[in-house]
Amino acid sequence: MDLEGRTALVTGGSRGIGLAIAQKIAEAGARVVISSRREENLAQALETFRDQTMVHAVTAHVGSRLEADRLVRASIEHFGSLDIVVNNAGTNPHFGPLVDISDSQMQKTYEVNQAAILTHSAAAWHQWMREHGGVILNIASIGGLGPESGLGWYSVTKAAVIHLTKQLAWELAPSVRVNAIAPGLVRTELARGLWENNETEITSRIPLRRLGEPEDIAQMALVLVSDASSWVTGQTIVIDGGTTNQPTGGVG
Ligand SMILES: NC(=O)c1ccc[n+]([C@@H]2O[C@H](COP(=O)([O-])OP(=O)(O)OC[C@H]3O[C@@H](n4cnc5c(N)ncnc54)[C@H](OP(=O)(O)O)[C@@H]3O)[C@@H](O)[C@H]2O)c1
Repeated sequence: MDLEGRTALVTGGSRGIGLAIAQKIAEAGARVVISSRREENLAQALETFRDQTMVHAVTAHVGSRLEADRLVRASIEHFGSLDIVVNNAGTNPHFGPLVDISDSQMQKTYEVNQAAILTHSAAAWHQWMREHGGVILNIASIGGLGPESGLGWYSVTKAAVIHLTKQLAWELAPSVRVNAIAPGLVRTELARGLWENNETEITSRIPLRRLGEPEDIAQMALVLVSDASSWVTGQTIVIDGGTTNQPTGGVG
């Protein structure tokens, strides 16, 4: 899984799953652009890379098409190419019944989790991949596979990511492969409220008996952005310690 000579962009690359993926891609020899909203988060992240000449940080809000176009342009200008885009940035401003979410929470979740997948893929296609080919990897969630208590609208946007992955893979083939990862519960800031105070209870319900770590997701990400998966497109790979592989409760 040698990525030498390639350039990757990882949105939300300043911490958590995005940073782990960016580090894994850099270790495989690629040049990496990491983006997030806050400069100080990116500065901290940059320090964790072994060879900092191979990493470039750009502040950008994924919820804006103008910012997406600017981010992709800045990546190509800095390293001269853009072979891999990892649409990782995500958010969840609302926890509770779906019927109680506000319009602004709905809009923000839609823009960051769902629309950004398309705007960044489109920018990469128009500015580089249509001519040179490439690989896109989207970070979905097992929430997108079925109902979840408290995470209703987030899960709706993640279900859309799974469908966007199929649609983009169909439209951009054969020159661009598009796949997704659907993680279960991973130990990051975004999910802290879900695991921090009841890890033992939660892990007792996960067949592999532990939370996911960002590294668990990054290892599969490396496979999906490299030539090791050169005949794979339109797929969503579940990485969840077996969370979604449970008996159905005897129905039927
Ligand atoms: N953790 C889990 O259990 C879990 C499970 C399933 C799926 N996921 C998905 O995995 C992805 C990564 O999540 P994570 O858990 O690693 O979250 P995280 O630790 O909170 O990291 C989120 C990253 O995205 C950036 N970000 C947030 N909003 C942004 C915006 N509007 N524009 C640009 N960057 C933004 C953050 O940096 P700034 O704050 O500096 O912008 C940060 O770098 C998300 O798509 C999430 O939905 C996570």
